[in-house]
Amino acid sequence: MICNRITVSDFRNIRAADVTFSEGVNILHGKNAQGKTNLLEAIHLVSVGRSFRGAKEAEMIGFDAPFSTVSVDFTDAVRRQNLTLRIFRGKKRQIEQNKVKLTKMSEMIGQYRTVLFCPEHLSIVKEGPALRRNFLDVAISQLRPMYLHSLQRYNQILRERNQLIKNAAEDRHTFDSTVEFWSLQLAREAAVIATLRCEYLTKAKDYVKESFCEMTAGAEIPDLCYVGAGFRELDAEIYTDREAVERRYTELLTTHYDREIAAGMTLWGIHRDDMDMTINGHAARSFASQGQQRSLSLALKLAEGEICRRETGENPVFLLDDVFSELDGSRREYLCDKISGKQIIITSCEPNLISDAKRIEVRAGTFTE
Ligand SMILES: Nc1ncnc2c1ncn2[C@@H]1O[C@H](COP(=O)(O)OP(=O)(O)O)[C@@H](O)[C@H]1O
Ligand SMILES: [Mg+2]
Repeated sequence: MICNRITVSDFRNIRAADVTFSEGVNILHGKNAQGKTNLLEAIHLVSVGRSFRGAKEAEMIGFDAPFSTVSVDFTDAVRRQNLTLRIFRGKKRQIEQNKVKLTKMSEMIGQYRTVLFCPEHLSIVKEGPALRRNFLDVAISQLRPMYLHSLQRYNQILRERNQLIKNAAEDRHTFDSTVEFWSLQLAREAAVIATLRCEYLTKAKDYVKESFCEMTAGAEIPDLCYVGAGFRELDAEIYTDREAVERRYTELLTTHYDREIAAGMTLWGIHRDDMDMTINGHAARSFASQGQQRSLSLALKLAEGEICRRETGENPVFLLDDVFSELDGSRREYLCDKISGKQIIITSCEPNLISDAKRIEVRAGTFTE
């Protein structure tokens, strides 16, 4: 997969830009606050439909502009294509693929595949579970349309169920008569998502082990495993049986109503689950050194790229936001070696970071080759 060109208008501090990329390494370089990450955010937005910085649509539109347009030309194994996304202030976004309107975001995601790596990901091991769930959601959504559908439905059902729980004190009757309906639906989608997340981790595990061991040249072995809230006592094998997983979520979501009302929210489900990362059996979050945690994060990102390549038959585009400055020499070298031969778009203050690269200078939202 190659990102050939991006045109952008009124996206953050970028008034208008038209940038073409080489099939190898591309470096967006310039001083701080010039728009390097902004362009990377735009490139990534068309791939996964949302900002990797967690920004709302209105925040990405240039100050004073009514809307913003991002258009990407990319080449997949079959042909050259275009995806164009227009975001508005307080109005539904518009998406076009090769000039044909798409009605759903899920039709866009998974077409133009990327792996994004930013400094925040280096904390994926030690930060809270939300970052790890987000990693899984973004990676799997690009590969499995079914996952994204379930996730969208899940979030909708979760909002309804949470509202019902919040209103339970005033209206216990409505709660009692409808909660089970929502619980069963939530459990059904949760089971689809959890089993796909677990399947993904099973695949990622081998790559992570391999990369981690190569980087650390050590005898310490990392492992990954999916942990469902409320599932701890069960064998991890359960995740190969979607119906069993659904039964377990159903049980959790239909037998603790009073606790959920007291907490004011849904206490079980994939929005509370986590991914356990261990090294030689010990929780990496608490026991690993900072260096090991970084190697593990890097290994996980490389695994994301490998799984994408294996499942789709082509490499995703690698987007690296300022990560080189955060890595030490040996990890830097390892990363360069692993992604060589693939298309990479990097942001950095340092123009000569990698010798054989297309250099694009970024200054106040303008881009010069
Ligand atoms: N919605 C927006 N409209 C206009 N400018 C914005 C918007 N959001 C952020 N900016 C500007 O973008 C600049 C930061 O760009 P960024 O790409 O993060 O910098 P860097 O080159 O360091 O990666 C800041 O000057 C900020 O004020
Ligand atoms: Mg930046």
